Amino acid sequence: MAEFKLPANSKVNKHGRVFKAPDGAKHVRRFRIYRYDPDSGENPRIDTYELDMDSCGPMVLDALIKIKNEIDPTLTFRRSCREGICGSCAMNIDGHNGLACICASDDIDGDVRISPLPHRPVVKDLVPDLTDFYAQYASIKPWLQTRTPAPPDRERLQSKADQQKVDRPSACILCACCSTSCPSYWWNSDRYLGPAALLAAYRWIVDSRDEATGERLDELEDPFRLYRCHTIMNCTEACPKDLNPAQAIGEIKQMLVRRRY
Ligand code: SF4
Ligand code: SF4
Ligand code: FES
Repeated sequence: MAEFKLPANSKVNKHGRVFKAPDGAKHVRRFRIYRYDPDSGENPRIDTYELDMDSCGPMVLDALIKIKNEIDPTLTFRRSCREGICGSCAMNIDGHNGLACICASDDIDGDVRISPLPHRPVVKDLVPDLTDFYAQYASIKPWLQTRTPAPPDRERLQSKADQQKVDRPSACILCACCSTSCPSYWWNSDRYLGPAALLAAYRWIVDSRDEATGERLDELEDPFRLYRCHTIMNCTEACPKDLNPAQAIGEIKQMLVRRRY
């Protein structure tokens, strides 16, 4: 009989360190945060931080910064813009992938549970290793490819209607919330490109100025790179920018069918 067991060092200790709120704090919230340092040889653990919300900003990222600045400088996470533009603060908050800087602590009931984006190796604490994710993005050649020379006196122009086709997909901030919420990507991320890279591929396929549409579709016509998408829709649900990678993937599949006839 098959027996499935997790390796001993993968088990998460749910009772890590507890940092109590300061005496006299009236508005206390508990943040339960995944901690892991692969170099330490220790198992991951969940640490609990009690924060006085009367002296903390409203967003989950504010709480993380307060913890790092005032309570525990060893806590590690990525952030930059703090306004939903850079994508670096993507993490799993209360069971959903999202951006910590635009997720209000008040919108979460009970303890605020925070862990790294799922199914990626962990560099440390809330920092996932996205090396493969970026390599997949690079593999779709996310730049304009042309054969005809550009007009000598101006840029390559496109109509307003054509520009609108690339407008929304261009708003992707490569946060990886979608790909790391996709079950197909969890199991096949070595060969399946995942929704973020496929949305980027779609953005260039539908660009009226690009002249490599055929080659781009050829690259995607593969049982794994594209067709591991089973339209589960987690990606679209997870996107903090309200983009629709699942629809883009569906449209790429339709283009591949149409060009056969
Ligand atoms: S629609 Fe496709 S890409 Fe999106 S979550 Fe489902 S399987 Fe993944
Ligand atoms: S499609 Fe949305 S969730 Fe996916 S990487 Fe882009 S912005 Fe993030
Ligand atoms: S810090 Fe840039 S998106 Fe959150």
